[in-house]
Amino acid sequence: MVSKEQLDLKRLPKHVAIIMDGNGRWAKKKGNPRIYGHSNGVAAVRDTVEAAAEIGINFLTLYAFSTENWNRPRTEIDALMSLLVSTINKETKTLLENNVRLQAIGDIGSLPNSVAKQLKGAIEKTKRKTGLNLILALSYSSRWEMLNAARNLAEDVQQGKIDSEDIDSTVFESYLNTSGIPDPELLIRTSGEFRISNFLLWQIAYTELYFTPTLWPDFRREDFYMAIANFQSRERRFGKISEQIVENININS
Ligand code: IPE
Ligand code: IPE
Ligand code: MG
Repeated sequence: MVSKEQLDLKRLPKHVAIIMDGNGRWAKKKGNPRIYGHSNGVAAVRDTVEAAAEIGINFLTLYAFSTENWNRPRTEIDALMSLLVSTINKETKTLLENNVRLQAIGDIGSLPNSVAKQLKGAIEKTKRKTGLNLILALSYSSRWEMLNAARNLAEDVQQGKIDSEDIDSTVFESYLNTSGIPDPELLIRTSGEFRISNFLLWQIAYTELYFTPTLWPDFRREDFYMAIANFQSRERRFGKISEQIVENININS
């Protein structure tokens, strides 16, 4: 077990992203319907958000519903959407108490009105909070996001707002849903699956990946700290060699 005290709070990742996976399997193991797993995933979200806010993480992005998840059985989608409405409704108070600002990425227009309304309300209520930025990825997929960016960029080029020669990483990023949000330094996926499932493909170019067999409803702050401790034990080289990294640390300290 890793406790908060074992973390180097001066070297925290600014942005942690999580693929919250394994709700269905968790429920099945207990002989319950899949939605039971989703409902129990809320406690994991609460604990993780509180832990992130408490230690001083700036951005936490949670993959809650992907574009591809629209292909699930209607009953599961409906149950997930109702759960979203009730959770956002119930948890807004806790977000305010923890100085958390809520944001969302994804095709929000494709969500049922009840979800979009609840979400927009919570975003509005928390918009002046200055602590953790909690970003929910809803009806999100990275290819959707990048195609959208390419389309909007092409339109702006056509209208003469931008010269195609001037398109660089910074310009392209400004067309993504995550514009203004730094790239995650750490990406966690629960449930023992080793894939990205169309999440933040551009943004994770140099992100450290952490996979844990823990199913999402069982994930708690200790698991979160463990992922961060693991992150802190890694050397991030960004294409350079180890000696250059060590040199840099010595120069900067
Ligand atoms: C993650 O759990 C939650 C969503 C994708 C909405 P799953 O529902 O994918 O659970 P498993 O992977 O089937 O166990
Ligand atoms: C990824 O989980 C999406 C979310 C966690 C919201 P999935 O369970 O949908 O991913 P795959 O289908 O196993 O790759
Ligand atoms: Mg899954």
